[in-house]
Amino acid sequence: MNALNDITILKIGGSIITDKDADDGAPNNSEIKRIAGEISKHHGKLIVVHGAGSFGHPQAKKYALNKKFDAKGALITHISVKALNHIVVESLANAGIDAIGVHPMGSTVSGDGRIAQMFIENIHLMLDNGFIPVLHGDVVMDTKLGTSILSGDQIVTYLAMQLGSARIGIGSAKDGVLDDKGDTIAAITSSNFKDIKQYIGGSESTDVTGGMLGKVVELVRLCEMSNINSRIFNAGTSGNVSRFLDGANIGTVITK
Ligand SMILES: Nc1ncnc2c1ncn2[C@@H]1O[C@H](COP(=O)(O)OP(=O)(O)O)[C@@H](O)[C@H]1O
Ligand SMILES: [Mg+2]
Repeated sequence: MNALNDITILKIGGSIITDKDADDGAPNNSEIKRIAGEISKHHGKLIVVHGAGSFGHPQAKKYALNKKFDAKGALITHISVKALNHIVVESLANAGIDAIGVHPMGSTVSGDGRIAQMFIENIHLMLDNGFIPVLHGDVVMDTKLGTSILSGDQIVTYLAMQLGSARIGIGSAKDGVLDDKGDTIAAITSSNFKDIKQYIGGSESTDVTGGMLGKVVELVRLCEMSNINSRIFNAGTSGNVSRFLDGANIGTVITK
């Protein structure tokens, strides 16, 4: 891993930028526009990763892509999430941001569902030259499975490790990771995670990548491997993306 640096990685969940209960791609245009506006106020190196929401999860589920290879289903899912990426990038551009869509299918090879290789030299150069790369959850080629689903959450942790990013934010639809009473858990560590795990579940909507538990498992693993902290917060609350980018301690921190 590189030394910790000033690159921020922000993930915006498909639960925020799409209607996740729809059967097929339904963008949440007003939320995309609001979040683009909040991102546009940020100065500094930033990578945006977004989820697929209804532009990927229902399609992946329909073709059972997490259970078997299906060429047609993989294509339909990839084309759909690419369409969402186009909408997000266009909205960022309208807010004055030099955003560039980077599709994992074209740059990543996984092995049994985990990233084995990702070409990131372009991402380094984009950041050095003032662009904001915008990646997304995708279907990627997989040495064991033919194709596999790559979650935006896994992309975040992979890039954080490779780039040594010091600030990771996961914007989703709840105020953080909630306990059994619905209160936001302030901090998750590798030692309290085994007790807290029982309160964390999958998604209430269609999500083939593990919902909240999938995120926390990724982020606890990141922390154990790299000492990099991350935050899960509610990106559906107006101003929260700005607050995170400005350095506020909102939501749940995942820390060592
Ligand atoms: N303990 C928990 N705290 C917060 N959310 C939880 C918890 N357990 C399950 N969830 C569900 O996980 C969802 C977040 O995962 P997901 O739908 O995959 O979000 P995203 O679209 O941002 O990836 C929440 O909206 C909620 O439905
Ligand atoms: Mg998800």
